[in-house]
Amino acid sequence: MSDRKRSALILAAGKGVRMKSDMPKVLHKVCGAPMLAYVLEAARAARLSPIRAVVGRGRGQVRKQFDRAKVDWIHQKKQAGTGHAVMSAGPKYRGFRGDVVILPGDVPLLAPQTITLLLHAHERMKAACTILTARVDDPAGYGRIVRDGRGAVRVIVEHGDATKAQLKISEINSGIMAFDGPTLFETVRELKNDNSQGEYYLTDVIGLLKRRRKKVAAVLVDDSREILGINSRAQLAQVGRIMRMRIIERLMDEGVTIVDPENTYIERDVEIGRDTVILPYTVIQSGVRVGRGCEVGPFTHLRVGTVMEEGSEVGNFTEVKKGLIGKRTKAKHLSYLGDVKIGADANIGAGTIVANYDGRKKHLTVIEDRAFVGSGSVLIAPVKIGTGAITGAGAVVTRNHDVPNGGVVVGVPARPLKKKKKRR
Ligand code: UD1
Ligand code: CA
Repeated sequence: MSDRKRSALILAAGKGVRMKSDMPKVLHKVCGAPMLAYVLEAARAARLSPIRAVVGRGRGQVRKQFDRAKVDWIHQKKQAGTGHAVMSAGPKYRGFRGDVVILPGDVPLLAPQTITLLLHAHERMKAACTILTARVDDPAGYGRIVRDGRGAVRVIVEHGDATKAQLKISEINSGIMAFDGPTLFETVRELKNDNSQGEYYLTDVIGLLKRRRKKVAAVLVDDSREILGINSRAQLAQVGRIMRMRIIERLMDEGVTIVDPENTYIERDVEIGRDTVILPYTVIQSGVRVGRGCEVGPFTHLRVGTVMEEGSEVGNFTEVKKGLIGKRTKAKHLSYLGDVKIGADANIGAGTIVANYDGRKKHLTVIEDRAFVGSGSVLIAPVKIGTGAITGAGAVVTRNHDVPNGGVVVGVPARPLKKKKKRR
């Protein structure tokens, strides 16, 4: 590709009316990250620069979530449509010569390669605008691509403004478009809002360009699922499902057994080693690391900050939060393990609860190598169970009453077990 400048302009200011939410739409999460995170990453991976994003209501919240991302934020004061959003970016692009890729903030499945493909076509065809289009079974809600007798794009008609015949068109606007920058900003200024929504549609730029005999090109996306936009909670779930399958397929490719992909919930940024088996109804959140040869599930919840080392097993109805589970350690039934550091070869009995929260603060519990925590034990943090130590079934180990290496405690509150003197 040439060394033309290529900027991303992400539209993320919309009201998200159809979400019926108090939170900006682009902050709704897909597999553990706000949908906007994926679009930003795609723009970065496609080497677009600068990356600019138009934000509106709730923009403080949005910027806070992305305070470390290199994004040039633009404020759209009132949300008067996608064309208006682009207009509000105009001043930032004064003097800019190059291409601008418009990316809606609500298309998290978009792959960076698709952006690159679009730009290649755009530059090869020397078009003023190149639209990424898709053929879909259900075009409801999308802008329709209307072509002329010779097959060239004539206009884009929004769903609410389409005639009956146009509603039948199955080729839709993905919302992803490459523009020659100066042409774009010159043309958006002429948009009108005389349509069903009373908004300035970016899509009307196409008709305006055509009237000026500028070249408008279109590229059909291979996999139409990639450009699914999220407007409603149902679409949020639909996109979430596809993203989840992508994550699961990648893990399976890497040698992880996932017994029932449809009933396994693994968020992004999770690492799992080969030959680990994930049993059904397991939820693993972003940032968790699971080593090789482990077993997780069924019905296990691994939360933020959890690390399972090689060969460890966490099973039925066990929740781990910020827990280190050492090599070959087992916690297989009905436990809550929060803020714990567990060594190797330990056994956490059924129903063990770590009481990490005293109502004000969270505290750490340390369980050392080969410790045996009896069924139904409650460990009140901060507390330490020494190497090879044992707690009896139902023991309540109170805070700071550390159990020494090799020690045995029983009862409520737990006290060292007195060995009965053997009769001679
Ligand atoms: C838009 C397109 C439609 C396309 C579809 C693809 C227009 C008029 N329509 O429709 O042709 O098929 O995307 O998904 O462009 N936004 C702003 N400011 C605003 C309004 C919207 O920043 O004033 C942002 C939104 O946050 C969103 C994006 O622009 O991320 C698209 O807006 P949305 O309302 O979702 O447009 P669609 O109705 O989906
Ligand atoms: Ca949308």
